[in-house]
Parts: sequence; C-alpha cells; structure tokens
Amino acid sequence: MRRIPDWIRGLVPLWLADAYRRLRHGRTWFDPRGRSVRIVFTEIYRRNLWGGHPGELYSGPGSELAVAEPYIRAVTEYIHSHGIRSVVDLGCGDFRVGREVVAAAGVRYCGVDVVPELIERNQEAFGSELVRFACQDITRDSLPPADLCLIRQVLQHLSNAQIRAVLQNCSHYSGLIVTEHVLPEDKMILPNLDIRHGVETRVEIGSAVVLSALPFDLPVVEVLCDVPLPDGSIIRTVRLNGSPATPG
Ligand SMILES: C[S@@+](CC[C@H](N)C(=O)[O-])C[C@H]1O[C@@H](n2cnc3c(N)ncnc32)[C@H](O)[C@@H]1O
Repeated sequence: MRRIPDWIRGLVPLWLADAYRRLRHGRTWFDPRGRSVRIVFTEIYRRNLWGGHPGELYSGPGSELAVAEPYIRAVTEYIHSHGIRSVVDLGCGDFRVGREVVAAAGVRYCGVDVVPELIERNQEAFGSELVRFACQDITRDSLPPADLCLIRQVLQHLSNAQIRAVLQNCSHYSGLIVTEHVLPEDKMILPNLDIRHGVETRVEIGSAVVLSALPFDLPVVEVLCDVPLPDGSIIRTVRLNGSPATPG
C-alpha cells in the first residue's frame, strides 16, 4: 500500500465526504459534527437511516442472513475449533447476526452497543442466562472480558481516531475477528481515508477500513471469509492476533 502521510489522508476526504453526504441525503442528512457517537447512532436508528420500518430498530441490510450467513459459519467454525466459551460482540446492533452465532456455536455472549434503546430492547427480547447486553461506548468504556472479541461492520462507521481508540480498548482480548465492508484493490483509491462517525462508510468515497494498511498497520493473521456483493464490493472478515494496540 502507498505510504501517504496521515495529515493528507485526513485533509481532503473529510470535506469531500461531508459534501457527498449533503448531496446524497439533502435535508435528511444528520450532521455528526460536534455530536457524540451515542447521539449520532441513536438518531440513525430513530430515523431508520439504515432502513427498516418506522419504529423498527434496524441495523441495515448488511445484517440480513443472506449476507451474514458465511460469516456465521466461519465464526462458528473458529469458535468450535479453538474451544472458545465466551464472546463479546462490539457494536452488536439489532442482534440479527449475533443471535445466529449464539444458536450455532452455543457460546456465552455479551452484545455491546452505544444506543440505549437498542440495548434495552435486546436485553428484554433476547436476554438469558447465556446472552446479555451492555450499553457502552467502545471507544472509551472498559469492555467486558471474553475469550473472543467480534467487531462486525462497526469500525467502517467511525473516524480513524475512533478506530484507534477502539483497537487500544480491545488490547486485553486474546482473539479478535473484524468484519468490514471493503472494495477490491483495483477499485480502492486509498484505504483508510478518514471520515466522521455516522451512517455512511468509506466505500462511498472509494475507500474502506483495512487494518493491515496505514495508519493502523496491524498484522492480519488470516481472511476468514469474503462475501462479494452485486456492486463489486466485499464484506470481508479477518482475524487478528490479540493485543492489537496501535501506536497513537
Ligand atoms: C451497521 S451496525 C452493525 C451491527 C452488527 N454488528 C451487525 O453486523 O449486524 C453498527 C453498530 O455499531 C454501533 N456502534 C457504532 N459506534 C459505536 C461505539 N462507539 N460504541 C458502541 N457501539 C457502536 C452502532 O450503534 C450500530 O448498532
């Protein structure tokens, strides 16, 4: 990957992404500037900005089973073959995907999300002896212990500084599986262009979160599964070794 200084990476794309969002969403665009992740993601669910019926708490089409099925299979296989007994799912969303992992792998599960009404609903509807939910901001709150940490289609909605904070906050996990919406190399302008936290991902501006590229530069141990989408983009799940703390 090309070595582009961090300040250039962060300079142009922020205004470019803002302009793109304004154009695309017009007056319905929810401006994340100066607003916390809790406020922004709560508003995304309240306004159904990832889809779903009004009033439904919907995490988006990326959580549909047709898309998530290879991920569920790969993660379940990993859990079984490594004797994993507990997982934490950071940014668990509406639990459509997590529920299938629990059902297939029979593992103790803690779903963490920053949106209070989502966590209340999940706990009420799905909480059990094996399954619980916690309302936390994964960029700053201390996270529950587990044998394995899952982060599926969450980092793609955060800025590079927030991603670094999440990775540092995950340094106590000995196993980490991360899923991101990415582009094939020939369609990617540059990986890890910076954006503000919110409804969009980097894919709309020709980029994606690639943890093995700068500024994160983490050793990815293996690609667990790739799910190609009709538009040529890919939902990619990778495994990292534990303690993925990155230099600030
Ligand atoms: C696109 S959804 C993915 C949901 C789920 N992982 C899945 O694959 O079905 C992204 C989720 O990350 C959550 N999220 C974003 N930033 C977060 C943060 N800082 N702390 C906790 N959750 C966060 C959002 O509220 C949202 O539910």
